[in-house]
Formats: sequence, structure tokens, C-alpha cells
Amino acid sequence: MIKYAILGFGTVGGGLAEVMADQKEKLAAAAGQSMELGYILVRRDYPDSPWRDKLVRDFAVIESDPDVAVVAEVIGGVGAAYEYSRRAILAGKSVVSSNKELVAVHGAELAALAKEHGVSYLFEGSVGGGIPLLRPLCRCLAANRIDEVYGILNGTTNYILTAMDTQGQTFADALKKAQELGYAEADPTADVEGIDACRKTAILADLSFGGNLDVTAIPTRGITSVTPADLELAHALGYTVKLLGRAARAEDGCFAFVEPHLIPQDHILASVNGVMNACAIRGSAVGEVVLCGPGAGAHPTASAVAADIADAVRHMGSPMIPDLGAPNGKLLPAEALCSRWYVRAQCAPEDAAGAFPGAAPVYGVSGECGFITGPMDRRALEARLAAVDGRAAYRVLA
Ligand code: HSE
Repeated sequence: MIKYAILGFGTVGGGLAEVMADQKEKLAAAAGQSMELGYILVRRDYPDSPWRDKLVRDFAVIESDPDVAVVAEVIGGVGAAYEYSRRAILAGKSVVSSNKELVAVHGAELAALAKEHGVSYLFEGSVGGGIPLLRPLCRCLAANRIDEVYGILNGTTNYILTAMDTQGQTFADALKKAQELGYAEADPTADVEGIDACRKTAILADLSFGGNLDVTAIPTRGITSVTPADLELAHALGYTVKLLGRAARAEDGCFAFVEPHLIPQDHILASVNGVMNACAIRGSAVGEVVLCGPGAGAHPTASAVAADIADAVRHMGSPMIPDLGAPNGKLLPAEALCSRWYVRAQCAPEDAAGAFPGAAPVYGVSGECGFITGPMDRRALEARLAAVDGRAAYRVLA
């Protein structure tokens, strides 16, 4: 009988214990043998928990138990999570994780350590929550050169944008609800400022292009600047506003960035609402594949982590370690990437058309206008914004 341990008993940790218990037999079949919850590492008491007899506060108990073959790290952050992941691997245990910050920052190092010690390091739950995304990217699409990955990678911000757009909720109310539903990070700044989506974009870029990018170098804008006027004007122009993480292969490196985008209303991503995430993968043989599903929440994320536990057990002796590449990836400046742009401005139609030939502004209730420009890079865009009293500008997808 193989034992596994769960590090952390928050939203995902609690959901993981439940999913592992609910689907015990199916997961045992996937793993090739039965699996027993050995321990849950906690920082406080849970006297009413059905798993209270499994709770331990000292990681050394887990580390020194030779029957524990797999450790599921769902603590979050790069402090204790990093230390315990390292120690687990050094003790010969496979590690699975839904911790995108840890994977984005130290994933390649932990993967190398896992390789050295002959154990698996898996992190399917770190991007896209419950969507099977990284396995399809790395394995099912192995016959492809991946040219681009882009998508809605943060459930909290998509939930907020959808609630503001379709129900007229305020940003603050929608964020509060997303927190209550267990979607948001402990500090929701990471969600609303795009940092969480940036980490996921880095992981997708690393798996696609092998560059092990420095997350701090990836240009990142969140949704705090998106106003109800942007949502109104985007609709009037035939678009909807979504926060996208994008990574694209280029001849001499790759682009990776996170920004709000205007998506044409007939694009598949435009109908991905609420906590749902979706990721498009463009491959040389397959064309474009879009994977969609719940991007956050206890059970969806646990679904991915539980399957990783089963795979790690199944692959004892022939470890599974996705390749995040070596830290040599060249990140090209996103400013240089040409796009059409949406501009929100305070100007007359002739001023818009004068600065941006062909612009056909529509006007909202606030008196501001919105229009779509022709293709240009960010520098060219910014040079013209003053002429129209530009207040916001976001890329248009496609
Ligand atoms: N806070 C994250 C989100 C959780 O909202 O998508 C899942 O990674």
C-alpha cells in the first residue's frame, strides 16, 4: 500500500482530500495500486475535520516515512512550499503541485532535482485549474512545434469581468464574491494585477518553447484599469474584454505578456465566462486547439492534482517530468509586437480619424468614445494617444 501526503489544508488541500476519498477506487485503478492518505501537513488544529487523525504539523514526519511515495504540495508561495518540495524529492518522493508561483520560479530546478533522484515532478493543476492542459500540450501535441499559446488563465479576473459586464456589478463586489467562492489568491492583488496569469503564461511558454523565462521580466497588466465604459464601448464595437496571457514563438526568441484584450464577439474565447478558463494552443501539425474548463476552485483544481498523484504512483521507476527548459530563453519586447488596438478617448470623430486613419469612434453614456486602430506597435500607438486625449488602450486579438 502506497501512502501519499498533502501539504496544506486550504481550499485546494481540503478539496484534494475529498476528491481522493470520493474516487479512491478509480484513482487506484489509474495508479495501478491502492493509495492511502498518510498525512496532511497543517499549521493549526481542525478538531472537527474527518481527517483530524491524519493532521501533522512537522514536515519531518512525512519526510521520514518511507511508505510515503508522493507528496502533494498545495501550500502556495515559494517559502515553505519550496523547502518541502526539495526535501521531499531528496527523500526519494515524487512531488505534485498546483502552485504556479513555485513552478514558474523554481520549477525547472525542482524538475532537474527530481530527474537526479528518479522521482516524478508534476504540476497539471498549476495552469488552468481543472482543465487537462499541460499533459495535452506536452504529450498529446508532441508531434507539433508549438507556435503560440494564449488564453484566459485566471478565474478570478474572468469572474470579475463577466460580473461587471453581464450583471453590472462593481469591481469590489465581484471580487468579494470571487473570494467567497474560493477562486482568489490569498492576496487577490496577484489575480487582479495579472501576476497569477503571468506565472501561468511563463509555465506555458517554458513548456512550449523551453526557455525557462524569468517571470519578473514578463510584461504584465491586470484588470484594475478596465472601466464600465470600456465594457460598454467594447460591446458597441462588437468585442468583449478579457484578460489574456499570451506567449508566441519568434525567430530569435519568444514574446510573452499579460494584458487585457478586446476579443471579437464571435471568437471562441469571447464566450468563456465566469470562473472558466480557456487556452488556445497553435501547433504546426494540428492547427489551433482550444481547451476550456473551470480555472479555479477546490474540486476542479483537486481533480488535476489527484490525477497527478495517480500518475506519479503509476510511473514509479519511470518518472514523469515535464521539460521546462534551461534558463536561456530570450524574451522579446512586447512593445514591438504589432496589433490593432482599442482606444478609449475623449475626442471628436475627426480628431480620431486624423490621428488614426480609418478610426470610426462610437460614443458611450459618459461622452467618451472608443475606436479600433489599424496595426501598429505600442510605441507608435502611444505617440498618437495625446492627440485624441486617449485614456486607455488595449490590444485587439486577431
Ligand atoms: N486565483 C487563481 C485564479 C486560482 O483565480 O485563477 C487558480 O489558479
